[in-house]
Amino acid sequence: MRVLTGIQPSGDLHIGNYFGSILPMIQSQGEHEVFAFIANYHAMTSLSSDGARLAGLTMQAASDFLALGMDPHKSTFWVQSDVKEVLELYWVLSAFTPMGLLERAHSYKDKTARGIASNHNLFSYPVLMAADILLFGTNVVPVGKDQIQHVEMARDIAMKFNNQYGDIFTMPQFRVDENVATVPGTDGQKMSKSYGNTITIFGEEKAQLKTIKKIVTEVVGVEEPKNFENCNVYNIVKLFLDENALRALQDRYTRGGEGHGHFKLYLAEVMWDYFAVYREKRAYYETHQDEVRDILALGATKARAIAQPIMEKVRSVSGIRY
Ligand code: ADP
Ligand code: TRP
Repeated sequence: MRVLTGIQPSGDLHIGNYFGSILPMIQSQGEHEVFAFIANYHAMTSLSSDGARLAGLTMQAASDFLALGMDPHKSTFWVQSDVKEVLELYWVLSAFTPMGLLERAHSYKDKTARGIASNHNLFSYPVLMAADILLFGTNVVPVGKDQIQHVEMARDIAMKFNNQYGDIFTMPQFRVDENVATVPGTDGQKMSKSYGNTITIFGEEKAQLKTIKKIVTEVVGVEEPKNFENCNVYNIVKLFLDENALRALQDRYTRGGEGHGHFKLYLAEVMWDYFAVYREKRAYYETHQDEVRDILALGATKARAIAQPIMEKVRSVSGIRY
């Protein structure tokens, strides 16, 4: 089964990203054929006026994912723009994309409603995403709820093409993993860059602690027993703990005698230790950027080997190959 994920290179990764999408992907390597790419063309919808930043964020995303366990031998890991066929397919698929389909896209409507300037690339973004998915014979696309509609659009577009020209594209399915936790942010809402409530994976130790201290908790006297189920600190730290450690922590809550400040310090410590080995790997990749580039080039070669025969069929049936 081929599972494909696109990663927007949009800055510092947070622990919501980690538990919600990175860890499940890393763990499924070997079990499934993992295809993961850094969606730098997509990022141009928000970063078109700062080329240096986009290039920097692309390399940062590559280093981060490699550090966190993306294995370029088990999986196929590349940068979107290194496989140019995707742009060719984007154009071909545009001819099978009714304007009405794009006009109904929630994500586009939400963004324009929030006053984000609407360029053509923002409007046509779902067609490029369809190309990302269909170019690699993808079976499954793991997504958050906000991206379901985009995968459905990819299916609609694929269906129209296949109806015209035969069974060229594999029909992708989206998968929303209900078992994966929605990680709360410091204010208790879903952790998200857009809410400014994130705890980053690779922040400085002091800054990290400062953020953790901001986590909203209920006001209860130190001596009193505390409720752990609804505690934002508990609901974050539990993601890092095994059953024994979890039970010990629950005891500390119910026993009383400690304030939420203690639990915050514990979270900071647990997180710092958990990511220690990844921090080291990341530091390595940061000082070995040529190695990162070599890995990405290898990934692009592997990705292209899958894309080219599919694209060749598309050219042939659609009359582009003459
Ligand atoms: P953000 O909301 O910070 O902009 P993205 O939309 O870039 O995050 O998310 C990238 C991936 O991380 C998606 O697959 C998304 O489902 C996952 N993710 C983001 N925030 C969380 C969260 N709080 N809990 C679980 N998964 C999350
Ligand atoms: N649109 C996705 C996001 O914003 C990123 C993405 C681009 C993607 N192409 C994709 C995800 C293909 C899955 C498959 O998060």
